[in-house]
Amino acid sequence: MRTAIIGFGTAGEGRLHAYRTIPGARVAAVLDPSPQRRARARQIDPTVATYAGLPELLAAEPVDAVDICTPPLYHVDLERAALTAGLHVICEKPVAVHTDEALELVALARQQERLLYPAHNYGFSPMMRVLTGAVTNGRIGPPSHAVFRIARDSHARGVPGWQPDWRRDISVARGGIMLDHGTHCAYMATQLFGEAPRTVACVAQWADDDAAGGMDVAARILLEFDGDRRCEIDLSWVSGTRSNRYRVTGPHGTADVHDGLAEVRSVHGAERTDLTPPTRDQTHQEWFGGMFADFAGLVAAGTGWDRPMREVITTTALIEAAYRSAALGGEPVVPAGRVTAEAQ
Ligand SMILES: NC(=O)c1ccc[n+]([C@@H]2O[C@H](COP(=O)([O-])OP(=O)(O)OC[C@H]3O[C@@H](n4cnc5c(N)ncnc54)[C@H](O)[C@@H]3O)[C@@H](O)[C@H]2O)c1
Repeated sequence: MRTAIIGFGTAGEGRLHAYRTIPGARVAAVLDPSPQRRARARQIDPTVATYAGLPELLAAEPVDAVDICTPPLYHVDLERAALTAGLHVICEKPVAVHTDEALELVALARQQERLLYPAHNYGFSPMMRVLTGAVTNGRIGPPSHAVFRIARDSHARGVPGWQPDWRRDISVARGGIMLDHGTHCAYMATQLFGEAPRTVACVAQWADDDAAGGMDVAARILLEFDGDRRCEIDLSWVSGTRSNRYRVTGPHGTADVHDGLAEVRSVHGAERTDLTPPTRDQTHQEWFGGMFADFAGLVAAGTGWDRPMREVITTTALIEAAYRSAALGGEPVVPAGRVTAEAQ
């Protein structure tokens, strides 16, 4: 499969390295407005053609797919343009910010008979393998309660060739920590609980205390699922420490991933696994092989596309509901995508 990477910053560069390890995958082109970033792409792989604009790339390169790794502001327009040009699309999170955008893109993908695939890479992480394994193999059983806590002392920075602090610019980032880290938590919870939440409640902390149009720097999100099951998500860019914790409780025990250490405790005993990644690479290149295999397998099969496209809608709707709830002071909100995705 011939792919073009659009946006060659931290995520795009991680992708190029990852594609180079996958048999059958070929990055034919890279698109980035920054000459510095285009030079960097050619330095890593001199066979890659580089472009500053999408029309030139589409006119010159017979690619099958694009992999969109730009900041969020550009995602929807690029997805729309690539699908319209008849290309399959992988897009970094957030694939969309509003449910209306997600629905429009999924409808366009269906009309074009092309796959719109969310780069929901945490779904392919060793930690999700431990958590889903503990649920599906019955060690802990179906989750009744989960707690995800992501603590950072700041947002991540981008490459120097563009705007390294775009994550603090609401017009480019389109949201704060809820959209950035919250998106991963949203699809992880939906995958683990096996459905979208019934309601979403959220209380947020805003940069400069600006709740109207400001940037969310910390948030507490409560997802309530049918059957009195719940997931608490605690996110912070202002915690002064860095840690990741995911704890899932079922009828037979608890699966806990705390930074690099996983522990499953159940009626069958306790099992510990060291999940420390081989690199501290923030794009998680080592998870990409599994995600790309899923994408390429779906493209080749031409079926099964509902799963990723539905995840685009439910994830967008969940985060959108969190923002709506935060604006209402924490009142529970029904995510629009739950109704829509079920109705499809
Ligand atoms: N899933 C993950 O684990 C993960 C990790 C890091 C980043 N991301 C996502 O990747 C995206 C990019 O983040 P980043 O950290 O790589 O940012 P970055 O600032 O490091 O890189 C952004 C790049 O996009 C380029 N760019 C800007 N406007 C463009 C346009 N219109 N067309 C093409 N290229 C354009 C910039 O020149 C820059 O090279 C974000 O959506 C982010 O959420 C995901």
